[in-house]
Amino acid sequence: MSRFWSSTLNRLSPYVPGEQAQRSDVIKLNTNEHALPPSSEALEAGKAIDPERLRKYPDPHSKALTKAIADFCKLAEDNVLVANGSDEILAFAWTAFLSDSEQQPAIPAMTYTFYPVWAQLLGNGLHRVPMRENLSIDFEAMSSWSGPVVFPNPNAPTAMAVSLSDIESICASDPDRLVIIDEAYYGFGAKTAAPLIRQFDNLLITRSFSKSHALAGLRVGYALGSRDLIEGLRRVKDSFNSYPVDAHAQTVAAVAISDSDWFEQASATIIENRAELKAGLEGLGFDVLPSEANFLLAKHPQHTGVTLTEKLREAGILVRSWSSEDLLPWVRITVGTKNQQQTLLAELKSILFGA
Ligand SMILES: Cc1ncc(COP(=O)(O)O)c(C=O)c1O
Repeated sequence: MSRFWSSTLNRLSPYVPGEQAQRSDVIKLNTNEHALPPSSEALEAGKAIDPERLRKYPDPHSKALTKAIADFCKLAEDNVLVANGSDEILAFAWTAFLSDSEQQPAIPAMTYTFYPVWAQLLGNGLHRVPMRENLSIDFEAMSSWSGPVVFPNPNAPTAMAVSLSDIESICASDPDRLVIIDEAYYGFGAKTAAPLIRQFDNLLITRSFSKSHALAGLRVGYALGSRDLIEGLRRVKDSFNSYPVDAHAQTVAAVAISDSDWFEQASATIIENRAELKAGLEGLGFDVLPSEANFLLAKHPQHTGVTLTEKLREAGILVRSWSSEDLLPWVRITVGTKNQQQTLLAELKSILFGA
């Protein structure tokens, strides 16, 4: 509380980012970073950057990176806008399209906890749609909401994805309703809605280099949408920070997204490791939700997520849990390397059975 803060700020509960451990000897499975190192071609391009490019301001339009993303997504350059992480893109979208819309946007009740923060800071509140019994998104209820909708696909923290036909029908149900799909976990098996951009001008997709391209430290995200929606985002960007992506990040990200061999192999490894982790957890008695992301949401009948998180932390393994009632039983575990997962499973076995 401060007398200098606006009333909105005084009421606001900011987003709490996952812990970034300072020690390098921990096994870090708490913030859904990619388990593998980024494309070596991209890293080399970063090392070779001409110092002149750092002396000068970067390209405000990230043109080369925008073209690389457009090629990757098989869309036109004016269907793409790049910014400093998909969090920034989502904040732009809230400001551009949801700040004074008459209808509040609907989100799933169990979802990314940054949405309520933007709704408070930049918007005019939210409508929360209860989850189905199995924790999937209730698409009928989302579709019957008369205002805009925002949801991640796959959802976080459940990791479950919705079908392309559900997305198509919600876009088609009302051409004047904005549909924002947060594809932060693109690349690990869920179907992308990107091809629908050509068909629906009310669809906006946000994506990230943090997960799919193992570049969380670079802070690059992008939006895909109709020319009109992208232009709306650009107007916000240029009213806020016209150079959100630095010269180094533009260079590295453009090479990373063009390295399709790296992307295909890395995604296949995560999908394979995810199946092993799921089987290992189920073998220890966990209930594990189906996942099309690079993490799993799991619960054990005898321990809350918080208890398991604390015990794993003592063993130098970080995972994520929550104290809210709906998420209390659950623990969210990022898919790791095979070695990291074996250590995690051995530690869980000893926590659960003392073996
Ligand atoms: C659902 C969801 N959306 C967006 C983001 C933000 O990603 P970025 O690193 O691109 O800002 C995250 C990060 O964890 C996320 O889980």
